[in-house]
Amino acid sequence: MNHFISMKQLSSETIIQLLDSATNLQESNFTISKQLFAANLFFETSTRTKMSFTVAEKKLGMEVLDFHAEASSMNKGESLYDTVKTFEAIGANVAIIRHEADNWMTELASNIAVPIINAGSGQAEHPTQCMLDLLTIYQEFGCIKGIKVVIVGDIKHSRVAKSNAIALEKLGAIVYLCAAPGYEDETLQYPYITIDEAVEICDVLMLLRIQHERHTNKHDTAGYLEAFGLTKQREKQMKDHAIILHPAPVNRGVEIDKDIVEYDRSRIFKQMANGVYMRMAILIHVLTEWGIIDDTIITER
Ligand code: NCD
Repeated sequence: MNHFISMKQLSSETIIQLLDSATNLQESNFTISKQLFAANLFFETSTRTKMSFTVAEKKLGMEVLDFHAEASSMNKGESLYDTVKTFEAIGANVAIIRHEADNWMTELASNIAVPIINAGSGQAEHPTQCMLDLLTIYQEFGCIKGIKVVIVGDIKHSRVAKSNAIALEKLGAIVYLCAAPGYEDETLQYPYITIDEAVEICDVLMLLRIQHERHTNKHDTAGYLEAFGLTKQREKQMKDHAIILHPAPVNRGVEIDKDIVEYDRSRIFKQMANGVYMRMAILIHVLTEWGIIDDTIITER
């Protein structure tokens, strides 16, 4: 049985099934008729991911075990492993984990007997964010294959960029990268283009925040928007049908002009809304794979 850890582990068929399932969940209200506990274990800050998991769990009728790392026994030296083992012991049926280490799951994966969902692993992967990004693209264009996606920003430190590049390529999208000097990532083998080229060719412009918290030296953002960001002038060069994505939090006026966040072609708030249904679909998927639920206890409200 698999934990939901990396976009590398998902086949394109499974990804498409999950996208269809999320769309279904958006159209009708489904709930699980069995008492289940979801542990939301966030060791890094989060607004959207944590709250949309909470809404997804509640919509599915699950009990939410909230956790605040700063007020937990981790202050008494308890490890991540023992914290997760504790939640397993007290009856959590699924654990949603975000942690600053790239490989926090290595020790957990084979020793935890409930499904784990990766809600962000350092600068390595963010598969549930990737899935909701794919859902937004899929709903916009009806397909992913052949869509030109340019991922723009601090690629090196972004887990969103990594998960998306892997998945988009798997689904046949045409992936380009665009980064300021020092923000390129040598592990990703896609062509780099400039922001001026990006706005002209893209169907999807996926902007990223500068990940200051992962930098060893603080970078000054003065002049970043004009040199590397989406200004109003550049936005005018985009094709009529092209859309803007951003996982948020957005630093308005840094990677994107502050007004563009609310432009018609921005799907930034749509992404957040899609996050709830995508996470419902992922929860159902892992709970079903692990034999914790089956079709007979998922009922329409
Ligand atoms: C992203 C993250 O945490 O990786 N945000 C999110 O989950 N919506 C992106 C970011 O922090 O810039």
